[in-house]
Amino acid sequence: MGNWYAFLSPYKQAVEELKVKLRSLREQYQQSSQHTPIEFVTGRVKPVTSILEKAQRKNISLDDLATEMQDIAGVRIVCQFVNDIDTIVELVRSRIDFEVKEERDYIKEKKESGYRSYHMVVNYPVHTIDGKKDLLVEIQVRTMAMNFWATIEHSLNYKYSGEIPADIKARLQRAAEAAFQLDEEMSKIKGEVREAQRILIRNRETSRN
Ligand code: GTP
Ligand code: MG
Repeated sequence: MGNWYAFLSPYKQAVEELKVKLRSLREQYQQSSQHTPIEFVTGRVKPVTSILEKAQRKNISLDDLATEMQDIAGVRIVCQFVNDIDTIVELVRSRIDFEVKEERDYIKEKKESGYRSYHMVVNYPVHTIDGKKDLLVEIQVRTMAMNFWATIEHSLNYKYSGEIPADIKARLQRAAEAAFQLDEEMSKIKGEVREAQRILIRNRETSRN
């Protein structure tokens, strides 16, 4: 690769633009009376060392990075509740400023490790001094519980260079199950709180009449 800075700079632009756009959705929800399905948004451009490591591991030629490595630009949307993820996925699908190319549902089908998340790969156009460039960006949508798990597992993978000892792996699987249960309980509680509010409003209305 001749010039990493030149190669990565449109990816950086894509990440920055998407962060602004997605954070503004959060802002709009907060201004409204609706529940905010976006807790926070993060984004990053994959560091060159990670690009090289992954290219080697997956046997990707550096000439094919733009098409073969989908997560050079990555954006993450973290939600409170599992059904917020559906809301976000619909919002992303309905946009006209970029196009969804692929979706991977690791919530319906969690990974062997215990990993859960909803992935979308989008074709995102950036406008540079050399004109329009279409880039792949990976959008990960997950709950805070899923994010907590993935963050811990990711640092353990780093610590053990991808070879996490069997006992810790088993513990991580149990932790993934606990995170799943937490998501379930929170969703139920949310449902109950909603129902309680509905009853409260209905009672107020009938006592007025
Ligand atoms: P990668 O080489 O990891 O990108 O795999 P892939 O190209 O087959 O795509 P996949 O959808 O499996 O994973 C894409 C991204 O999801 C990864 O770069 C991670 O950010 C995240 N991810 C996938 N699996 C795991 C996992 O088991 N643990 C954690 N912490 N993150 C994961
Ligand atoms: Mg990937």
